[in-house]
Amino acid sequence: MEEGIFFLSKEETKKKLTEGRLNVSVFGLGYVGLPLAVAWCKAGAKVIGVTKNKEHEELLKKGISPFPEDLELKKEYKECYEAEKIEITSDSSYAAKNSDLKIIAVPVPYDIATSTINYSALEDVANNLGKSLKNGDIVDLESSVPPGTTEKILLKILEEKSKLKLSRNFGLVYSPERIYVGRALKDLRENYPKIIGSSCKKSLEIMSVFYEQISKKGVILLNSFIAAELEKLFEGVYRDVNIALANELANICEKMNISYEEVRKAANSQPYCHLHQPGIGVGGFCLPNYSNYIIAKAKELNLEVPVIENGRKENEKLPFLMAKNLIMYLRSMLELENINILVLGLTFRGNTSDTRYSPAIDFVNTIVEKVKAVYVYDPFVKRPLENLDKKAKIVENLSELKEKAEVLCIATDHEEFKKLLSSNELIDLLKDPKIIVDFKVVINNETKAKLEAFGAKVFIRGEPVSFISGLNSNLTK
Ligand SMILES: NC(=O)c1ccc[n+]([C@@H]2O[C@H](COP(=O)([O-])OP(=O)(O)OC[C@H]3O[C@@H](n4cnc5c(N)ncnc54)[C@H](O)[C@@H]3O)[C@@H](O)[C@H]2O)c1
Repeated sequence: MEEGIFFLSKEETKKKLTEGRLNVSVFGLGYVGLPLAVAWCKAGAKVIGVTKNKEHEELLKKGISPFPEDLELKKEYKECYEAEKIEITSDSSYAAKNSDLKIIAVPVPYDIATSTINYSALEDVANNLGKSLKNGDIVDLESSVPPGTTEKILLKILEEKSKLKLSRNFGLVYSPERIYVGRALKDLRENYPKIIGSSCKKSLEIMSVFYEQISKKGVILLNSFIAAELEKLFEGVYRDVNIALANELANICEKMNISYEEVRKAANSQPYCHLHQPGIGVGGFCLPNYSNYIIAKAKELNLEVPVIENGRKENEKLPFLMAKNLIMYLRSMLELENINILVLGLTFRGNTSDTRYSPAIDFVNTIVEKVKAVYVYDPFVKRPLENLDKKAKIVENLSELKEKAEVLCIATDHEEFKKLLSSNELIDLLKDPKIIVDFKVVINNETKAKLEAFGAKVFIRGEPVSFISGLNSNLTK
């Protein structure tokens, strides 16, 4: 019988993976777990992937990735599946029993309404792992989690259920996922070093040998779980706060009739300045959760974090404010009850199918109450969404649009929209006064000039003569 991976030498560890003798289970095959499973497979491991999503399970068992927008993932998943190097199951205990390295990528959501963190998926996986944990196994938590989770929740359950001890019998690391959905495999393999944190030196040693086979940029080792947990959250909080700042600065530019983008580019030529782009709000599963985890932790510590709290609040308000400003502008010139609005994009950002906490949904839900009809087109969203107002009409193809729209809003920056905007197709769907509002700055100067030549009035977030941040005096004169 082979020795458990926790007790291997560095050289044996490397061989175990590259010679195809390492059995890995991945709990959660979502935007993060599926690329992880594929990356480990391609590095040489045999993988058992666990999903609780029935629809995804059916597709995966046919060799089809549920995330077709990521072409590399789609291709490589198919290859792994056809080579029988990845097995798909919904049975966590089967996966737990039949693997040496157990990777966890399930969500730990923060519920804004109740201000509570839902650990149930992680606890479920931990209980399953604890029941069958063997001497020499290693567990690797890759979900983003509130600080302290690896030790206080995962390790506690593992030790209680298995009666084994960290460092003596098994290994444990926290290794956050830093990928950008849509280009996950490239990020994992080429773009950033892998962060690995653990209070157990041997766990760090083994996992760094493994991840050095996958990540070209190598690994960064941290000496505690909590430091690695915070590292991931700080990346997200930095972006959340800076997006709030970018939106404030864009508002100033709009009111002063100055191009924010022009100023931003020039400012960012200085190495200490990293101004972000403005938009319609911040969504996705990550950034809102991360700031909320940190705000909750600060409360526990009796610390005030006004910068993070205000950034979060401003970002939450933004899609509603953008909707209000649009309606106010339209009301100043048209009868609202006669207006049709076409919205491009529902996902939380471009080139993904992920609609979790999407600001575009808040925006649509707000404007749909005020006008005759709102049509929504998103190449990645073909079905009604639970949290989208039923009055909003999703069109699968733009050719389905029953009537022309007076207003077109761009709420997500999908690559496809850039092409659409430079074609005549969109203009043909509009009728006077042909108002185009670009919240995501996808329209460049050339496209703007072309659209204006067709008689459209084009407003771009953060650009001169716009009303997006609130009514502009230049427009109301
Ligand atoms: N999506 C991102 O861009 C991103 C980036 C970095 C980190 N993360 C973090 O990665 C984690 C996963 O995010 P995601 O976007 O992949 O989520 P997801 O919702 O796309 O996928 C979650 C997966 O977990 C499975 N699952 C749920 N409960 C389970 C259980 N009890 N047992 C086994 N499997 C279960 C689901 O079936 C699904 O396959 C989160 O902590 C997230 O914050 C996400």
